[in-house]
Amino acid sequence: MIYQVYPRSFADSDGDGLGDLQGVIDHLDHLVDLGVGTIWLSPFFASPQEDYGYDISDYCDVAPEYGTLETAQALIDAAHDRGLKVMFDLVINHTSDQHPWFARSRASRSNPKSDWYIWRDGRGRGGRRPPNNWRSAMEVKSAWQWSADRQQWYLATFLPFQPDLNLRNPEVKEAVFEAVRFWLRRGVDGFRLDIFGYVMKDPEFRDNPFGPVVDGSQTRIWQRTFTENTDDSIAFAKELRAVVDEFADQGGGDRVLLGEVFGTPETLRRYLGDGDGLQLVFLFDFLAYTYSAEFFRDRIAAYEREFPPPLQPTYVLENHDRSRLIDRVGGDEARARTLAVLLCTLRGVPTIYQGQEIAMANTPMRLREARDPIARSFFSWVPEAVVQRVPERLNRDEVRTPMQWNSEPNAGFTSPVAVAWLPVHPGYRDRNVAVQDGVEGSMLELYRLLLRIRSERPSLHRGSLRLRPVDPSNPEVLTYERIDHLTGAGAGSPEVTMITVNFASSAAWIEPGGRVELLVATDPSVVVTGGRLHLPPCSAVVVAVMERTSTWP
Ligand code: NOJ
Repeated sequence: MIYQVYPRSFADSDGDGLGDLQGVIDHLDHLVDLGVGTIWLSPFFASPQEDYGYDISDYCDVAPEYGTLETAQALIDAAHDRGLKVMFDLVINHTSDQHPWFARSRASRSNPKSDWYIWRDGRGRGGRRPPNNWRSAMEVKSAWQWSADRQQWYLATFLPFQPDLNLRNPEVKEAVFEAVRFWLRRGVDGFRLDIFGYVMKDPEFRDNPFGPVVDGSQTRIWQRTFTENTDDSIAFAKELRAVVDEFADQGGGDRVLLGEVFGTPETLRRYLGDGDGLQLVFLFDFLAYTYSAEFFRDRIAAYEREFPPPLQPTYVLENHDRSRLIDRVGGDEARARTLAVLLCTLRGVPTIYQGQEIAMANTPMRLREARDPIARSFFSWVPEAVVQRVPERLNRDEVRTPMQWNSEPNAGFTSPVAVAWLPVHPGYRDRNVAVQDGVEGSMLELYRLLLRIRSERPSLHRGSLRLRPVDPSNPEVLTYERIDHLTGAGAGSPEVTMITVNFASSAAWIEPGGRVELLVATDPSVVVTGGRLHLPPCSAVVVAVMERTSTWP
């Protein structure tokens, strides 16, 4: 299980209102108690913080507000002492425009770093039109930025202050790989790879073809044939894997690469190669779900098909870029609990974003006060009248507010008299780690229980998954089994765990097909009686199957 820490908002040890690495060290025991196996830290490297760390100006140094290289080392060691693995965030598609590499690169067309970024002459008279039709990841604007110094365009796939590195240049590649080795030598167990699908663009700079796409979470006009998920990006995944494999036998086991990539299951699968690419890729579909058994059954089936064992799907319900889960389910805690059960019992790697374990909610904020550069860039060109009608959720600040530790002023995130960098959610006194700790039925205790059962039961942490066919009398019920064939409690019998989620707003009675024992229920009125399971609306249950009396079709 991977737990995402957003260091700026996790815990502040020195009272400046910003989270820091010492704050993370001070709260590692919370993660151990939760049942976390690996922590992934969003970037804390040297950076002007225009995109809060996703704009790096030195890969091998720590931004002073977060600590020093020594604090980073202390964090790695303290995590390891507690049996936790540590992943850092590798942002290599781009750097900050304040990285010294870019300062050199943009200074002239002939200096030694002139080819470290992606520079092109423009089209039209005086070259003042962008070199091609590539759009930024935000889709609205061109990905090309004009540089008056070089009288040329540079590519910035994300935001204008994040120029794309030219990873086709062997010197750049080597510099990036050296930064990777720098952290591996210090004991880091792996990396989450920021917008990895864009690392290698078409070397011929061909225009992307016209082709409108509306896929639920995105709307766009141009395909990304020549910018995203190219064969060369997939080949690059293998090169990076070879670098981390240099450290495989130096203690700590394999070093893991987890890609932030977007696409169909088939496309995502390609990044894994034949066991020689990334080990994991995020599956983001659960961030834009329909709350129905059909949606989840369909997605789980697709990922089981595309990522069969020993491959591992990596499911996500929340991260620092998207709305909090509790808001996506309209504040309905019962629904959030059912999705927690799914996340923690599916085959693969569950990932949890800080605060998800206590059902932290979005903190409503005005778009015009945003610190988030995406929200700000949107605000800068959208007319005021339209801004008024924009759904506030576009502002990523809302999901990055301070972690709610307790009911003290500032929620225990920073000193009670400090000013936190983003406002603490006004409801923090009712929703924080301290008030949920030890309280039966709280979200925190549900996650703790789920993760404990997951680690105790081989069927849940390493077993196969079998989806039950749709039950026509309960179409809104999703059932699957996790089966561990390797170790059975009895003579050769596999350990079986069954998970049932009732998505309906009416109760359901289920035939489990055998004698079962209740392990986890999201609702106290879930009961096993007379060999049947009773599930109230929007509830889920995890049971141990002790004896099978009938098989599924
Ligand atoms: C994806 C990250 O999750 C996001 O927070 C960041 O702004 C962009 N990549 C750019 O690095």
